[in-house]
Amino acid sequence: MGFEVSCFLPLQSMSTTFCILFFSFTILFSFLSLLIFILRLIKPWCNCEVCRCFLSAGWVKDFGNLCDWYTHLLQKSPTGTIHVHVLGNTITANPENVEHMLKTRFDNYPKGKPFSVILGDLLGRGIFNVDGDSWRFQRKMASLELGSVSVRSYGFEIVGSEIQSRLIPLLSSAAGKEDGILDLQDVFRRFSFDNICRLSFGLDPGCLQLSLPVSNFAVAFDLASKLSAERAMAVSPLVWKMKRLLNLGSERKLKEAIKVLNTLAAEMKNQRRQMGFSDQKDLLSRFMASVDDDQYLRDIVISFVLAGRDTVASALTSFFYLLSQHPGVEAAIRDEVERFIGGTEAAALSFDQMRQMHYLNAAIYESMRLYPPVQFDSKCCQEDDILPDGTFVRKGTRVTYHPYAMGRMERIWGPDCLEFKPERWLRNGVFKSENPFKFPVFQGGVRVCLGKEMALVEMRSVVLALVQRFDIRVAGPNRAPRFVPGLTATMRGGLPVLVRERGA
Ligand code: HEM
Repeated sequence: MGFEVSCFLPLQSMSTTFCILFFSFTILFSFLSLLIFILRLIKPWCNCEVCRCFLSAGWVKDFGNLCDWYTHLLQKSPTGTIHVHVLGNTITANPENVEHMLKTRFDNYPKGKPFSVILGDLLGRGIFNVDGDSWRFQRKMASLELGSVSVRSYGFEIVGSEIQSRLIPLLSSAAGKEDGILDLQDVFRRFSFDNICRLSFGLDPGCLQLSLPVSNFAVAFDLASKLSAERAMAVSPLVWKMKRLLNLGSERKLKEAIKVLNTLAAEMKNQRRQMGFSDQKDLLSRFMASVDDDQYLRDIVISFVLAGRDTVASALTSFFYLLSQHPGVEAAIRDEVERFIGGTEAAALSFDQMRQMHYLNAAIYESMRLYPPVQFDSKCCQEDDILPDGTFVRKGTRVTYHPYAMGRMERIWGPDCLEFKPERWLRNGVFKSENPFKFPVFQGGVRVCLGKEMALVEMRSVVLALVQRFDIRVAGPNRAPRFVPGLTATMRGGLPVLVRERGA
């Protein structure tokens, strides 16, 4: 026994020393290869005006948001394309370039490894985070589901009941109070979270009851997407990778938030299994019928929540922000409702009737032109390429198209591009959609958003229900929105509004 111990101890300390050496060598090696990669791809020393201004945050004195500064640079650029060398990022607001990336040379512009590594812990192998066969498989399955009439009418039903039983009562109770100021952004985030959870899992978190605390799932989800988005803003990925390795600071918080999400997602799946899923209409049940792998199911479902929650809430928040400043547009929507249904409730409108409300659709598109929920979207160039505007793109460069800037380009929308004018979407009173590469708010081309129709159903239903019943006005001075950095546009400080019941 004594012999065994004396022999074992040196062996153990040798293996510990070996582990430490191996570990240090691996870190050093990863550090050096990353450094070489970064130096090759980006130019941390770049002294051009744009990079200097980016590094010193000099743009802050003239612009409220980074996206406004980029818009200014893109407007000035003769090609509609700029380079932020220190980020290894080429940014474009040129529709021909956008079509080239998203359609013509789609295979050369995947999401790429840098993006999928950043969001990998949160999204895993979910549709947002993969390319190639895995993406094709999920896309096919998801488009069958989201494209089916039964899922759309199920979505329409869910949204209608959430509006009638929660959204309207909540706004009515705020309207009854003397100083009933409400954060409309928070209300819409809770509203769309309930909807997407009911649609995706068939389970109702009941977030829209303001008396209830926001569900653990929503809190963990918010934190995980915020911290994941912050990874993407670092000049070097090395920083967050080291923090993750050592389980420190924001990376430790991210890990904890993801753990909560995983536990809750597992609970949902178990509940679904116990309830039986073969005759259920939610997306999880439908996916469960064809996918066996639990981790994969979790990834698919988390991607759907990300896709359908913040985007819709962001679009609705901006819509009511703009409507508050344009009573003429509000009056025109009310006239259209009146023409369609006379004095009856907006809830009586069918899915198809809402589609035919041309002015309403024009107003919704126009607000997303100026305030797209996804302000920019990046791809990774696989092989050296030349964009249609003549810009050379080196392999490995991040190429970003920028819908926020594109909505503000005179050369795309004309001299009145900064005005909120739903009429620009109408031809003889009939809504006419635009080329998706000029308006890539739902992306466009091969990976166009699969939830566009669902999102429009949700938006039309909410706008009609609220505009018919309430006057909603931004409380306090009307300032241009400031956005929080993140995956989806979120207004800093929310959108405080005063609500009054019409005719009260
Ligand atoms: C106003 C609301 C919405 C906007 C502006 C929007 C916008 C987008 C954008 C820009 C993308 C491309 C993202 C990327 O590849 O990086 C996308 C993809 C996607 N969206 Fe939406 N979306 C909205 C609502 C929804 C909803 C409600 C759902 C689901 C119910 C949904 C499902 C999806 C899915 C599954 C994809 C991935 C498509 C793919 O990669 O092939 N979206 N969306």
